[in-house]
This record gives sequence, C-alpha cells and structure tokens, in this order.
Amino acid sequence: MGKLDKSKKLFEEARKLTPGGVHSSLRSLDPYPIFISKAKGSKIYDVDGNEYTDYHLAFGPVVLGHCHPAVIAAVKEQLNKGVIFGLCNELEIEVAKKINAHVPSAKMIRFCNSGTEATYHAIRVARAYTKRDKIVKFEGAYHGWHDYVSFSTSPSLKEAGPKETPSIVPDTEGLPAQIAKDTIVLPFNDPEALETTMKKHKNEIATLITEPILHGNATCIPPEKGFLELLREITTKYDIILIFDEVVTGFRHSLGGAQKLFNVIPDLTTFGKAMANGFPVAAICGKEEIMKKFKPTGRVDYGGTFNGNPVSMAATLATIKELEKEEVHKKLFRLGETLRNQLNEVVDELGIKAQTVGFGSIFQVLFTDKEIHDYRDALTSNVEQFRRFQKEMMSSGIFILPHANKRCHISASHADREIEQTIETAREILRKM
Ligand SMILES: Cc1ncc(COP(=O)(O)O)c(C=O)c1O
Repeated sequence: MGKLDKSKKLFEEARKLTPGGVHSSLRSLDPYPIFISKAKGSKIYDVDGNEYTDYHLAFGPVVLGHCHPAVIAAVKEQLNKGVIFGLCNELEIEVAKKINAHVPSAKMIRFCNSGTEATYHAIRVARAYTKRDKIVKFEGAYHGWHDYVSFSTSPSLKEAGPKETPSIVPDTEGLPAQIAKDTIVLPFNDPEALETTMKKHKNEIATLITEPILHGNATCIPPEKGFLELLREITTKYDIILIFDEVVTGFRHSLGGAQKLFNVIPDLTTFGKAMANGFPVAAICGKEEIMKKFKPTGRVDYGGTFNGNPVSMAATLATIKELEKEEVHKKLFRLGETLRNQLNEVVDELGIKAQTVGFGSIFQVLFTDKEIHDYRDALTSNVEQFRRFQKEMMSSGIFILPHANKRCHISASHADREIEQTIETAREILRKM
C-alpha cells in the first residue's frame, strides 16, 4: 500500500459536513477512512491509487464479485426502461417466483430495501400475529439498527454480568425504556438457557429471532448439533414465531438459505445483502397466514417508496440466475475451506494463540485459543493483535475490516491464486508478530 494522502484530505472535508466523516458508523478507520474510487471483481481501489484484494465486500453483499457483468448488464437494460414507478412491475413477480421456488420457508414474499427494514417488519408482524410483545434474541446478534433489536451486541456486555444471567445492554442511546422490558437476550448455542427462559415466558413471547449461523458482532459461529432443531421444536411447542435472519447467510451460502443446508424451516425469513450482489434490496418471506397479516390483506402496515423498484429487481434476478449455476456456491465453499484450513495450519506451525473460524465463504481470524461457542467466547480475541494483523494485511494490499468481531467474505471472483497469496502474506505477518 502506498500513501493515503488523498483519503486524508477527503476525510478532512467530509468530517466538516458529516459526523466523523462517515455515513455508517463502522466505516470509520484508524486514523481515517479510506475513500474508494472504483471496484472490479475481487479488487477495490482507493483514491490514492492503491489496489486491495477485498475481503470486506461491503459487509457481505458482493457475493459474485464487484461489477459482475451479468448483473451490471441487467441493471443497464432496466435503467433505460425506468428506475422507479411506485407501482407494480413484472420483475417483482419473477423474483418472488424464484425465491418461492428456492427457499423452503418462502410461501409468500415482500420486498423492502435493507436488512434492518426486513427484521423490523418480521418482528412487527410476529407481534401482530401472536398478540404478544416480547422478543427473544441472542447475545452478539446484530439484526439491524432499529430499536427492537439494539441490545447486547457490544463488548461492554461482558462488564454487565455473567453469561448465566444474560444482561440487556442497550447498544445505543435513544432507546425507549419500555423496549428493553420486552426484550430477552440469551447466549447462542445454550440449550439449557433457552429451554428455561422459553418455558418461563412462553405466553408473553411473540418471536425468537436468530441468524441460523451467528455473525452480527460475533464473527461467525455455526450452530452446534441440534441447536437449530431445538429452536424449531420449542417455538412450535409454545406457538412462538421463529424468524431466521438470513441477511448474511441467504444467497451467499445457498439459494435456499442456511435453512436449506441445515434443514430447519422457520416461520419467517429475512434476506438482504447478497440478494442483488450489492444493489440495495431486502425481503421478508414466510408462511401465508402470517404474511397475509400485512396490509392490504391484513392490518399490519408495510410501506416503502423504493420497495420492489425495477432496478433492484433486475439486479436480484440476474444475481439469482448466476447463483443457480451450481459451480458458484461450490467455488465459494472451496475457497473458504482452503483459506480457513491453511490459516489454521499456519498458526499451528507458528505456535500462535489464534484460529480462523467461519462457514462457507465467510471467515475471521481470532487471536484466542478458546473454543468458540458464543459471543462471549468470540470477545476473547485479542483486539490489539487483530488490529496489528489488519494493518499489516492492509499495507500488503489485502483489505479486511479492522473490527475483531466482524467477519471477512470471499466472492466468486476471487481466484485460487489470490487465496494462496493471502495465506502467504498472512503467514509472513503472523511470523513477524
Ligand atoms: C444478520 C443481519 N441482519 C440484519 C442486518 C441489517 O442489514 P442492513 O445493514 O441492510 O440494514 C445486518 C447487517 O449487517 C445483519 O448482519
């Protein structure tokens, strides 16, 4: 990596106009954010002319690689026909048909524009359907930034008390006090805590929302054997709506979502991120009797000027068609496995207290030798070491986010050769560390 003079200058300008110079909090980098001028395939380029192999991929959406030709062509074609109508268009039906065909839980589908909107709608409709108020979520699980879910995803959780008495820690100022009273937070992969709590509050709980694989601010933690099945069993027993938030896992791991891979079918599912390879679109899908609670068939409000706009729909359809090619997911899984296995061999060889966790095309390097079952385990990763590793990787032209509890993504545009180079670069950096 060369100089970052232009980024620095732009940051000085940006922060006069925008808090911290960034339009989403986590884009802040130390000492200042880099400004990106273009992206193609597996690479991003900053305004100073530095090239990086991109394992951030915009927090996950870019599953096929930046500017994938088929997606760009579909969008260009649509741009000439109209960007937005605020009325129905045929592409909405085509995309909904695809999702219905691929996703086991997706009897009916509604589009929106972000994962946050999707989880908000899902929780609201679950409350309307069950006529109960409480929701259950897991520690470290990020489901967007709306009030219903903004609890217990920050490291300060550890200071708030032991895991045995999970604490409701607000992630932000500005949350109404009542919301915390209607929120229950549990540790992931803990059947005992789950069973006890669900039994105790069974008549008050509207929904349990979870990612099938915990990411959020907890790196990447797969469910332990039987855990998702137990979630399904208990929620069915107590008439609680099970929401799988597949904003990260959906489309990236399989067109049917993680629910198809694990064969556990929720009542509602939310999608976003990789749906349209980077174009802003999201969806909520689920059982007909719940989805029909939305207006106009029901009484749950659901609006959105940009919902189902034809540009996002064209991008989604083109992305799905690419992902229907079997070799795409095969490649994503193969690259992910190679990277994780080899990075784990490297740390074993060097005798470093570190490990690479992940699933499919997602990975994260944790500087801890603790076995990872839940968010608190992920928090044992040494943040200083991770930051040093990230800075060195970035200086070597490999971009990963500087946040120890986030995750890295691989796209179908990454080449085997780039994965090998990444492992070699990481080996050198870790050796020096
Ligand atoms: C699991 C999960 N759900 C929901 C969201 C919110 O999505 P968005 O940023 O599109 O609002 C995210 C974002 O990172 C996420 O990781």
